[in-house]
Amino acid sequence: EQQTNWDGQRLVKYNGFWLLELLFRPILSARKYFKAKATDVILSTMPKSGTTWLKALTFSIANRSVFPIDQSPLLTSNPHKVVPALEFNLYWGKENPDPELIPDPRILSTHIPFEMLPDSIRESDCRIIYVSRNPLDVFISHRHFLLENKFAKDAVPLALDEAFDMFCQGIHPFGPFWDHMLGYWNAHLKNPERVLFLKYEDLKEDILSNVKKIAEFIGSPFSPEEEKQGVVEQISRLCSFENLKNLEVNKSGNVLGLMKNSSFFRKGEVGDCVNFLTPEMAERIKNLMEREFQGSGLIYNI
Ligand code: A3P
Repeated sequence: EQQTNWDGQRLVKYNGFWLLELLFRPILSARKYFKAKATDVILSTMPKSGTTWLKALTFSIANRSVFPIDQSPLLTSNPHKVVPALEFNLYWGKENPDPELIPDPRILSTHIPFEMLPDSIRESDCRIIYVSRNPLDVFISHRHFLLENKFAKDAVPLALDEAFDMFCQGIHPFGPFWDHMLGYWNAHLKNPERVLFLKYEDLKEDILSNVKKIAEFIGSPFSPEEEKQGVVEQISRLCSFENLKNLEVNKSGNVLGLMKNSSFFRKGEVGDCVNFLTPEMAERIKNLMEREFQGSGLIYNI
């Protein structure tokens, strides 16, 4: 089954999910060839849920003994260059790339739904960190991102209400959003030591305890000395929206020649959706989530 996203990009439906056609091959190659290692950390998200932030945080936490804060690669490279994505970078145009291109312990990101991950990720002892975000903010964030980057050059984008309707039908890159979230939520319930489920809103509310949580989860908790020296605060500050957005490297340049570095840093707020969507639209998503999440234990207050 095929569809055109509201911005003109081609989508294909595969195992119940709408995938961007341009990522279909890389995803299939990753599924066929990627061999996860127990030491890998996989960062999973739906697009616009906080991928950039999670990359910066996890990289900084995992490499804190390698790079002092003032020598962090994040100061001179966009987070998407520092932490590659399976389908965008590793398997983009390469069917079976050399996994040793990335040194251990590897940190990789993906938007692939849990059910569709390479078997070796689901079956190995690697860690998976998922960040979810209020779908209304995801929709608005994605709308801005796609309008800014214009992936389908000649397409005339659909109006906001039509795009929103498609989103509510689950027709959007890596959608339906409820199945994407539930896949990782259920995996987390089944195996909380392997799958950490975070919320963008919780990171905004209390970044320090979430930085510690990520460190513990990847088996690298902060020592009392590190805590005393303020390392948790330093990492949180380095990875903050304001700091990353204002770095020269993130003001220009692009990822893969496709996505402007600056387009990953728009507002970085919770609830920006109210500036664009009507209360009826919010109600529609609320009802949708209530229905889809019923009995799962996943509660998303919006
Ligand atoms: P907004 O468009 O609402 O501002 P992703 O990284 O998954 O592509 O998501 C991008 C969204 O996360 C954008 O949301 C962006 O501004 C926000 N973001 C990027 N870096 C962030 C950071 N360090 N802290 C908080 N939000 C961040």
